[in-house]
Order: sequence, then C-alpha cells, then structure tokens
Amino acid sequence: MRQDKILIIGACGQIGVELTLALRKAYGNNNVIAADIKESHPLLKDDGPYYQLNVMDSDATLNIVKKENITQIYLLAALLSATGEKNPKLAWDINMQSMLQILDISLQEKLDRVYWPSSIAVFGTSTPNEQTQQKTIIEPRTVYGISKYAGELWCQYYNQRWGLDVRSLRYPGLISWKSAPGGGTTDYAVEIYHEALKNKHYTCFLSENTYLPMMYMDDAIRGTIELMQVPTDKLSTRMAYNISAMSFSPKEIAESIKKHIPEFNIDYNPDFRQQIADSWPKSIDDSLARTDWIWKPEFNLDKMTENMLLNLKSTI
Ligand code: SER
Repeated sequence: MRQDKILIIGACGQIGVELTLALRKAYGNNNVIAADIKESHPLLKDDGPYYQLNVMDSDATLNIVKKENITQIYLLAALLSATGEKNPKLAWDINMQSMLQILDISLQEKLDRVYWPSSIAVFGTSTPNEQTQQKTIIEPRTVYGISKYAGELWCQYYNQRWGLDVRSLRYPGLISWKSAPGGGTTDYAVEIYHEALKNKHYTCFLSENTYLPMMYMDDAIRGTIELMQVPTDKLSTRMAYNISAMSFSPKEIAESIKKHIPEFNIDYNPDFRQQIADSWPKSIDDSLARTDWIWKPEFNLDKMTENMLLNLKSTI
C-alpha cells in the first residue's frame, strides 16, 4: 500500500475547513494538502501544506497532484443552490467543469479514491417528500440540483466504465460553527445561532413550518471519512448515498435556542429561497448507508444547539 496523500479542493469552505482538520488528525498534517481560491483560512494557517488554486485551472491542479504525489482528492468547491439560481449558467459551468476535470486527472494519475459531494437538492417537487428513499423520482428544480444529479451519474459512469473509485454523499443542510456556509438555502440554520447570540433576534428567510433535513458538521465529517475508508466491496451503489440525521423547521430550531436564550425571538420574511426549500424533501431515508457502511448520526437538534452555542460563544 502506498502512503495516502490527500488533496482537498475548496478547503476554506464550510465543509472544507473541518474536513481538512479532521483528515490531518487522521493521516498526519503533511499528508493532507489544502487548496482553495482564497489566500488562506485562519484555522488552516500554519497547520499544514496549502495552495491557492482556482479549481477551473486544470493544469495548476494537475501540477499539485504530481508534485505532491496525491493519491486521493476531495473536491468541495462549488456554487450552492441560492447562488446558483442567480446565475444558472455560471453554476453549471463551475460545478460540472471542475468535477469532470478532477475525474479526468484522477483517472490519468491513477488515484486510489475521489470524493465528490452531492446533496438533497437532487430531489424535486415530484419526489415523495417524507422519508425520501435512495431510489425515487429525481427531477431537481434548481441548477445546483441538476448539476448534482448529473454529477452523480458521471461519478457512476467513471466507476463503471473505467473503474475510478469515486464516492459521494447526498448531504442535507449542514450546520457548523468553525466556517460559515455561503449561498445555500439551508444557511438560515447557521445564521440563526449567530444572530441569537449577537442580537437575540433573527428574521428568517424561510417560513416557520418549512421542514428540511439537516445535520451537524461533526456527523457530516465523520460520515464522509467513514465512507471514504470503507472497503470497496461494501458499496452497493455508485450514485451518492442518502444520509440523514434530523429534520426541523425554523420554528423548532428557534424553540431549541430559547431553551438557552429565553429572550430570543424570531420572525419570518420568506424570499426566493422558500421556493427552493419547498422543492426539497422534509426527511430522508438513509437505510442504505446504515446497512452498507453502518452510518449512524450522533447529534439531534437539542444536542447540536447546545454544542453550537457553547462553541460560538467562545469565538465572539
Ligand atoms: N446546503 C445546500 C444548499 O442549501 C444544499 O446542499 O444549497
């Protein structure tokens, strides 16, 4: 077995920062190379190798892969759902082109494994929206969702045609305190904690009873690494796996926060993101992940709220 050398592209993003830190702990700082279009991130500074990289620059990416003897890539750079709706063609170009370039580099350089994230955004209004199954009607309504579904099919194609070991998860909304999300429809569930601590008030851009599947970042990172470490023969699909932890509405997360900050109050002013949220499932059936690689979440809403508020307080 050769030494694992991991490249994380999009390392300064919401998932990227925590994944880089976790993989460095697991594989050693110098075996995890962080790359992002940003100059750096305070939490990654001086922590291990870092490259400033535009994911669309295939030559620059290839150079890093060769120079660092990379064996695995995690591609996290993408435009999310809300940003994507403002500029659909740009979202398509960035999300698809970057993915195809990485898959080609991975094949050419004979990488052991590639990770590419999918999302609940692959589902649309025609999908049964409670306990949404792994295999169901998939007709995404956003360009982000279209790019994720097309991407899943490409991952499956590269695996079946050329044997590339690409793995993927359909993330629900992710909630974290170390690094902020950007441009997503589920971002309200992060903003609300910041505003609760700062102003004791939050105006939510989704309506009070909009249920969406959500997950605390600790679970998402653990699940991602578990999926990437599981032996190949355990994987029964080469599309992205459904994974789930909890579902709640803005009203319920507000109630959970009020248990710690009784003065907190919320009001609602839904915008264009409401329509995106309404096209997504309320809850997800992740039994395939639970069976194939023994996925199990640890955080529910109240445990997450306690952890978020505790950690955010220390950063303010
Ligand atoms: N969190 C993402 C978004 O809201 C969904 O994958 O766009």
